Amino acid sequence: MRERPLSKRCFEDLCDVIPGGVNSPVRAFCDLAITPLVAESGSGSHITDIDGNSYIDYCMSWGALIHGHTHPEVVEKAIQRLKMGSSFGATTNIEEKLARKITTLMPSCERVRLVSSGTEATMTACRLARGYTNRPLMIKFAGCYHGHADHFLVQAGSGVTRLKESSSSGIPKEMLASTYCLPFNDHDACNQLFDEIGSNLACVIIEPIAANMGVVPASKPFLELLRRRTKECGALLIFDEVISGFRVALGGAQEKYGITPDLSCFGKIMGGGFPAAGFGGKKEIMDVLAPQGSVYQAGTLSGNPVAMEAGLKALELCQAPGFYDTLNAKARIIIDPVREYIKKHDLPFCINSVDSLFTLFCGVKEVNNQADAKKQDNELFNKLFYYMFEHGVYMPPGPYEGWFVSMAHSQDELEKTRDLLLQWLRI
Ligand SMILES: Cc1ncc(COP(=O)(O)O)c(C=O)c1O
Repeated sequence: MRERPLSKRCFEDLCDVIPGGVNSPVRAFCDLAITPLVAESGSGSHITDIDGNSYIDYCMSWGALIHGHTHPEVVEKAIQRLKMGSSFGATTNIEEKLARKITTLMPSCERVRLVSSGTEATMTACRLARGYTNRPLMIKFAGCYHGHADHFLVQAGSGVTRLKESSSSGIPKEMLASTYCLPFNDHDACNQLFDEIGSNLACVIIEPIAANMGVVPASKPFLELLRRRTKECGALLIFDEVISGFRVALGGAQEKYGITPDLSCFGKIMGGGFPAAGFGGKKEIMDVLAPQGSVYQAGTLSGNPVAMEAGLKALELCQAPGFYDTLNAKARIIIDPVREYIKKHDLPFCINSVDSLFTLFCGVKEVNNQADAKKQDNELFNKLFYYMFEHGVYMPPGPYEGWFVSMAHSQDELEKTRDLLLQWLRI
């Protein structure tokens, strides 16, 4: 076993002052029942804990660090900007640069509002949809996670999946009455509900490439159905691209699938590892936001200049020629041989992947929605996690998460990870 005495002591101290010792539940390694990783530093593909143990990191700040930890150009830009002042509560020119970059990369976004977290982005996009359509109802899909605003916490993914009700207490029933939750990729359920509530529907929100029930892409026909039915009934289609945005293509899942949503939400990569997120859409819809319009949104640190600078550099780096081909080829070093091995030996596992995002599901042979993902063998998952962790690989510490390959992962590290996975599958 790796020695982690300082991590253990620090986590005990954290538990003294912070509920569960963490500021976001999945960091607590709850079902793993071991001391969680207490991070000290990161460099490139590696994360180092406070005991000095180093791990190849596939969590990468839950997908934010597409260029790896402490990319020198991102760090330099952030430091330069920090020296000019960390926050003003007044508008700055760097916000225009990042917003313009996003409008260029995502043609569906004529206007962008910049906020500090993905939760704020999705929460406000839904409020905007309700304000714009003057209708109350929203449809979401089981297993998709859109942050922790009250009305999204119905059969949500990621850490919410392990709650008994797959929802959260503390939310009045009335609040949830306007949220309808459907099975992911289910055409019939969708058609039926549109027939019933279409005229009162404000919006449908979906992760077009779900990554919070493990990685489960929506089928293109399913997204086309949502696009057609929302248009017909006058509701807005919202793509939550907090994970897929700038990861699967510069233009996100909407570019990959060729489907244009009315509103899009971003986060993670666009902050370059700092707290930044945003949402955007057509001018006509976005102008319903205050100060021009009546839908309110605000934030002391919204559009924070240090985060903007880091985010802008991160997006510029993604624009390097061949960036996504190289990134995806890196991921395939792990994905292809492991998938082949599973198939050849008919093992009770499967890999779902989209480009540099993947999940190895344990104890199931096919996953198309949250119900399938929940059939996983959690004990088997825990064994996999312990094995990888012990051998210096930090994979996402929960069965409903995706692995994130970054540009900083070297061929050797990816091959080492592949070999470890194959060895473990052989045991
Ligand atoms: C798809 C998706 N939407 C929204 C969010 C919420 O973002 P944040 O954690 O920045 O509030 C997340 C977080 O993981 C996410 O994966």
